[in-house]
Order: sequence, then C-alpha cells, then structure tokens
Amino acid sequence: MYKPEYIKEILLDNKTIVEGIDKAAVWLTNKYKNNSNPPIIICILKGALQFYSHLIEKIECEIRLDFTTLSSYRNALVTNGMPEIVTNLSMQVTGRDVVVVEDVSDTANTLSMLLNNLKLQKPKSLVSMVLVDKPECRKKPFKPDYACFTLKGNPFVVGYGMDCNEKGRNLPYIAVFNPDWKDK
Ligand code: IMP
Ligand code: MG
Repeated sequence: MYKPEYIKEILLDNKTIVEGIDKAAVWLTNKYKNNSNPPIIICILKGALQFYSHLIEKIECEIRLDFTTLSSYRNALVTNGMPEIVTNLSMQVTGRDVVVVEDVSDTANTLSMLLNNLKLQKPKSLVSMVLVDKPECRKKPFKPDYACFTLKGNPFVVGYGMDCNEKGRNLPYIAVFNPDWKDK
C-alpha cells in the first residue's frame, strides 16, 4: 500500500471510511426518499470530492448535484480564517432542500460562511454533512448536522480528498500528516 514519507499514522482505513459513508447515504435516503422535489447535494471542492462521489452513488432516491470551490488555507497548516468562494454554484437553491458536503470541519469558518451565504438565498431546508469533524478546533460553536467520523484533538489529516499543500488527496485512507516532514 502506498504510504508516503509525510504520513505519520493511519487513523481510518478505506473499509472503515466506506462503511461510514454508506451510513451517511442511508441517513440522506431516509430524509429525502419521499420528496417531490429532489434535494441539491453540494460538493465543496476539492476536498470533499472522494467523499461525495462515494456518497451520491449510495443515495437511493432522486437528487441533483452541484459544486462550489472554497479556499481557506494558503499553503499553511493553519487557516487564515477568511474563506473565499472561488467558483460558485450553477443552480438556484431558493425553495429547495440543500445538503452541503464538506471534507472536514476544523474551525468550521468555511462551512459557516457557506451556510450563511446559502441561507440568504432562502432554501427550503439546509443540512451540513462532513466526513471528518474536529470539534475541539472550534473558535465559535458549530455542529454539523451529520459527521461520519469525529476526531479527538487537532490532528492535521490528509487522504480521502484531504490535503496538505495539495499532497495526499488521492490516498485511500485518512492519516495524520507528519508536521516535522520537510519537502525536499
Ligand atoms: P475550517 O474552516 O477551519 O473548518 O477548515 C475547513 C477547511 O480547511 C476544510 O475544507 C479543509 O480544506 C481544510 N482543513 C481543515 N482541517 C484540515 C485537516 O486536518 N486536513 C486537511 N484539510 C483541513
Ligand atoms: Mg476543503
């Protein structure tokens, strides 16, 4: 198995991740299976890509897909707290059920900003779903509506879509990034 030098410790293997996402898909299916208007499931790129692609194929009801690219880290392990919308949605969310799918909530600034922005557009309902929640990293209270996995402390993790300076996104597992590793 490919394990780059910058990996310190594998926290969640692929089987565990996929099982967690399957449960999230069941949760969404139960929530929206009787809808007359399909919910819009929004992927926050790039980090949520793998989570999202597995999730949507396991949802057993009609859905619509949309994408947004947000940016909060500037080549750093620490957020600058100023997330920006880099590319916007293509659909109108007004009056629709909306699910926002994110890779990780750390300070949760990014997710809060996007949710507040979407609320202004008056969706019928708004749900947030994260692959990994790090609740101890909050500066302001925030709880995602659904978290597949909750981590203790503040490990900086990569894999399954998540990166450190774009490294590690394609790893099939979620692992702690070694903060002492130096790029050659
Ligand atoms: P927040 O706004 O502090 O919650 O950070 C959210 C964004 O920062 C996520 O969408 C990720 O792109 C990135 N991020 C936060 N924590 C991690 C981590 O442990 N690994 C990789 N990216 C992270
Ligand atoms: Mg992200």
